[in-house]
Amino acid sequence: MAGSGEAAAGVRPQTGRMATTSSSPGPWSACAALLYDPFLALGERRGMAARRRALLAGARGRVREIGAGTGSNLAPYPAGLDALVLTEPDPGMRARLHRRVERGGIRAAVVDAGAEALPFPDGEFDTVVSTLVLCTVPDADAAVVELRRVLRPGGRLLFLEHVRAEERRLARRQDRLARPWRAFAAGCHCNRPTLDLLRAQFPTVVAEPAVWRGMPRIVHPLVAGHAVVAR
Ligand SMILES: C[S@@+](CC[C@H](N)C(=O)[O-])C[C@H]1O[C@@H](n2cnc3c(N)ncnc32)[C@H](O)[C@@H]1O
Repeated sequence: MAGSGEAAAGVRPQTGRMATTSSSPGPWSACAALLYDPFLALGERRGMAARRRALLAGARGRVREIGAGTGSNLAPYPAGLDALVLTEPDPGMRARLHRRVERGGIRAAVVDAGAEALPFPDGEFDTVVSTLVLCTVPDADAAVVELRRVLRPGGRLLFLEHVRAEERRLARRQDRLARPWRAFAAGCHCNRPTLDLLRAQFPTVVAEPAVWRGMPRIVHPLVAGHAVVAR
């Protein structure tokens, strides 16, 4: 799968003391984190890994990733980043992320923070990354406002998210299965219109539709793209 964490040549050089925060995961959080990579593995092989690489090739300068999970994006980051800050609020995910960062000798900070209230000043980052996160964040509107706040003018949001289907039959199916899916998939909203939320804060958003192959049909519709903050 993508991001086995061993590479990430761009963010692993030299001295790199890792600033981290951690707390012990409870059994449910640890178990969900353990199952996350195996559950995604087929999808990664069937195109998601390549999509991550294509998206992250656009990362520059000081980079922050929200909901970094187990670190699936670590390997594809390009060389020469000035800083990489990985935020992740779930202790089980964060423990795995932390281990991957350490094992890879990657120079990155792992920070315990939810996307709705980020402990960073305005305009701190050149690039902000969100992959498969805005479906899960409880207050996605607040999270998108925060994404924009921490980007400098001219800074870039890179996103890869699964979204509400355009096709009506599939959208109805997403609505019917939204509750059980949310319970199964740790709070994920399979029917969330994430692209509309992004457009509300980033009018210049450029998005391409795609399909998340190798995963249940209700999360097939993807959008991948970027948005630049006006100067
Ligand atoms: C489906 S996983 C995606 C992980 C990773 N970004 C990836 O691409 O594989 C969703 C992630 O969002 C995190 N998450 C949940 N609530 C969040 C919040 N309020 N703010 C930021 N991340 C959150 C979860 O802990 C989980 O790591």
